[in-house]
Amino acid sequence: MTHLTGKTAVVTGGSAGIGLASAHALHGAGARVVLIARDGDRLARAAAEFPKGDALTIQGDVADTERLPILLEQCPAIDVLVNNAGVHHRGAMLRHSAQELAEMVSANLTAPIVLARLAADVMPAGGRIVNVASLAGKLPVPGSAVYSGTKAGLRFWALAVAEDLAERGIGVATVNPGPVDTAFVRADLAHVSPISASQPWSTPERVAEAVLAAIVSDRSPLEIDVPYLSGKMAAAVYAIPAIRPVLRPVMQWKGERTLRRMAASSGGARLNDAGGVPQRLGADGCDGAAEVDAAAAGAGLASFSTSDRV
Ligand SMILES: NC(=O)c1ccc[n+]([C@@H]2O[C@H](COP(=O)([O-])OP(=O)(O)OC[C@H]3O[C@@H](n4cnc5c(N)ncnc54)[C@H](OP(=O)(O)O)[C@@H]3O)[C@@H](O)[C@H]2O)c1
Repeated sequence: MTHLTGKTAVVTGGSAGIGLASAHALHGAGARVVLIARDGDRLARAAAEFPKGDALTIQGDVADTERLPILLEQCPAIDVLVNNAGVHHRGAMLRHSAQELAEMVSANLTAPIVLARLAADVMPAGGRIVNVASLAGKLPVPGSAVYSGTKAGLRFWALAVAEDLAERGIGVATVNPGPVDTAFVRADLAHVSPISASQPWSTPERVAEAVLAAIVSDRSPLEIDVPYLSGKMAAAVYAIPAIRPVLRPVMQWKGERTLRRMAASSGGARLNDAGGVPQRLGADGCDGAAEVDAAAAGAGLASFSTSDRV
């Protein structure tokens, strides 16, 4: 798909953060956008950012997978589907109810699969499906096991299903962000690990650039890591786990500093009692990280611009 003029792009989680930034990027490339999210007022405010008639809204919860056909029936057309909406209940699995864990699986994994299946029946050849996964899906992340597992599943499903969808001329891509400065993180700073926060942060607009690049590319399957180097490092740490404990001290120190600055800029959001930042090391010495604990260890090798940007 080389240009988006006259195309319709459906973006789940399109009322805020990465989804809204992606919708703007797609609109800038010529597309009409359809924004899906739960909060109707926020959806209306997001749609008002676009010229009248260029952004349609559909209110719905993607975790309610039985109702997904009803949501997609309201789309006038689907040339592009961006599976972006996601849920992260941070912390160890045993802290959460079975329902919360199931919600993560439904929103992060089942919904993208079901939406892709439904969209494939109406999407013309040349259509494109882009999934927003996470660098937490490139390494197992203790403390975010279910989230990490859903994002890994999303990545693997996308890599495998590309062959099926190629029969209809539909391409599939996945974008794997490291930490991104959105409400997704800011609303739960108390449970973001210093290890995660030590990594290079991206803006939603930077991730949206990757989403747009994934749409206009002809490659399928395609994966884009943001930042690129963190993705490479995540792969290296996955292959050689012994790297992690070596890099942990500097990452911990750097992440604590970043979280303090973020808390201060969020009006003093409450952090935990252990020195002002979350301390959640598992029995195996693994961090209880949110996003990209992992990616990590890598970033210890990457250039750290994080703290200055957040
Ligand atoms: N921020 C990060 O550090 C980061 C890093 C890696 C990957 N990601 C992934 O990026 C995606 C977007 O995250 P973000 O940072 O942009 O989050 P965000 O700023 O909190 O925005 C989330 C968007 O998704 C919608 N949403 C959430 N749950 C939904 C549901 N069950 N059904 C429909 N819409 C829902 C929200 O609106 P409503 O609440 O009104 O529904 C909002 O529009 C997620 O899949 C996340 O896993 C984020």
